[in-house]
Amino acid sequence: MSDRPRHFLDIDRVHPGTLRQIIERGKRFKKDRASANGLLAGKTLAMIFEKNSTRTRVSFEVGMNHLGGNAVVMSDRDSQMGRGETVEDTARVLSRYVDAIMIRTDDPSKLHTLAKHATVPVINGLTDASHPCQVMADIMTYEEHREFIKRKVIAWVGDGNNMTTSWLHAAVQFQFELRIATPPELRLSQGEIGWAKSEGAKVSEHTDAKEAVAGADCVTTDTWVSMGHDAERDKRLALLAPYQVDGALMTLAKPDAIFMHCLPAHRGEEVTEDVIDGDQSVVWDEAENRLYAQMGILAWCLEAT
Ligand code: CP
Ligand code: NVA
Repeated sequence: MSDRPRHFLDIDRVHPGTLRQIIERGKRFKKDRASANGLLAGKTLAMIFEKNSTRTRVSFEVGMNHLGGNAVVMSDRDSQMGRGETVEDTARVLSRYVDAIMIRTDDPSKLHTLAKHATVPVINGLTDASHPCQVMADIMTYEEHREFIKRKVIAWVGDGNNMTTSWLHAAVQFQFELRIATPPELRLSQGEIGWAKSEGAKVSEHTDAKEAVAGADCVTTDTWVSMGHDAERDKRLALLAPYQVDGALMTLAKPDAIFMHCLPAHRGEEVTEDVIDGDQSVVWDEAENRLYAQMGILAWCLEAT
C-alpha cells in the first residue's frame, strides 16, 4: 500500500494514465465478471449520503459485493454527522472501521475535509461542484458504443452544473472536444473554463444549442433543477426552455451520434421522450456502467491487483 490513501475526488486530480487504466479495468470487469471475484475480500466501503440517490447507492453496494467486499450506508437522517458531528471526527472514526469512504454531499469542502482527515481512500459520489464517477461511466459508455473518445466532439446542452464541470475535467484528461451550450446566467465558472483552456483543452461555450450540437459525436444533458436548487425551479425552467434536447436538435449532430443523460431524467423538460427513449439513446447502458466504472475506481483506490 502507498503511504497516502488513493482518493478519487475529481477527474482533474487523477493522472490521465490512471484514469485510462480505471476505464479499461471497468470494461474488463463488465466482460468478465469473474475477474472481480475476491479482489476486495474482507474490505468494507462506508457510503455517506446527504442527498438522495438511486444509481450511486445501488451500484457502489453491488460493485463492492462483486469484488468480494461489502458496503455500509449512512444517511444524514440516522448518523451523528446529520446532528452536527464534525466531518473531521467522522473521517477519523470511519477510518478505524472501514477501508474506503464514499460521500455524496452538497458542499465540496466537506469532501475535501473528509479526505484530509481520513486515513483511507475517499471517493466523490457527487457534490454541488462535480460528479466524477458518473463521467467515468459516461466515457466508458461512449467508448463501448463507438471508439476511443480522444478527439471526438461532445456537446453539453442545458444547465452549467456539477456534471458539466466533470465533463470539463474529462475533456482535459481524455483530450476530446467539449462544446458547452448554456444560458448566459447558468454558465460554468470562468475559472474552471480558463483552467481547462490553459491545459490545452478544446473547449467552447455557446448560448445557441444548435451551434454546439452541429456535427457532434455525442449530445448530453442533465436535469434543469439539480438537487438543492428546487427554490429556483420556475426561473430555471424559463431560462433553459431553449435548451431542450429534442429530435430536431439531434438531427444536427452526426447521424450516428449518441445521446447520454446521467439520470434521473425529466421527459418534456431537458429532453423529449422520443430522444431519451429513441434509438440514439444509450442511457440505460450509462446507468449500468456506473457499476463497472466504479468497480475500477474501487480497485484502484484500494490497490487491488
Ligand atoms: N446519476 C446519478 O448519480 O444517479 P443517482 O442520483 O440516482 O445516484
Ligand atoms: N446535476 C444533478 C445530477 C444528479 C445525478 C444533481 O446534482 O442533482
